Amino acid sequence: MRVMKNIILIGFMGSGKTEVGKRLAERLGYQFVDTDNIIEKKTGKSIGDIFREHGEGYFRGLEAEVVRDLSGLSRHVIATGGGIVINRENILNLKKTGLMVWLNASPETIYNRVRYESHRPLLYADNPLEEIKRLIGVREQFYKEADISVETDGLEVEKIVDIIIDSSLVKKATKS
Ligand code: S3P
Repeated sequence: MRVMKNIILIGFMGSGKTEVGKRLAERLGYQFVDTDNIIEKKTGKSIGDIFREHGEGYFRGLEAEVVRDLSGLSRHVIATGGGIVINRENILNLKKTGLMVWLNASPETIYNRVRYESHRPLLYADNPLEEIKRLIGVREQFYKEADISVETDGLEVEKIVDIIIDSSLVKKATKS
């Protein structure tokens, strides 16, 4: 039986995992953690520097390590990097630690949220919107493995948190 000790947020870059996660944690009285932050603390480097200096493969190795280390947590909201799901082992390990919630957003919504930000190395493309569409095309099948999916287009953070908290699976997982 899966023990639902945590809520894990997955979804593409710019889908609101950090903002929603922080607010969700507050409302549930849980702690908040973010896998990218853990990696930055562990290495003393920004995600951008890790990609630049060591490449994506090295970053994915660190990401998988961090996921393995999350198993001891309980009563945490865990926000994850957008590409965490491309490694099957990560999905299995994350699901063991809690209930997985996918924040889904259209490529256009994502693009509008990330276009003025500069810390996402995978979107340093000539045509970021096309790159977002391409990556979502590859990853969607993995995001769909979440226990719950929330359509976030046009919704405020508080509304997204309401939807998550009102879901029967979350209610069941967070009671006590
Ligand atoms: C990535 C998403 C980023 C970060 C890294 C790679 C991805 O996290 O982990 O730049 O592959 O989608 P956010 O989803 O928090 O931006």
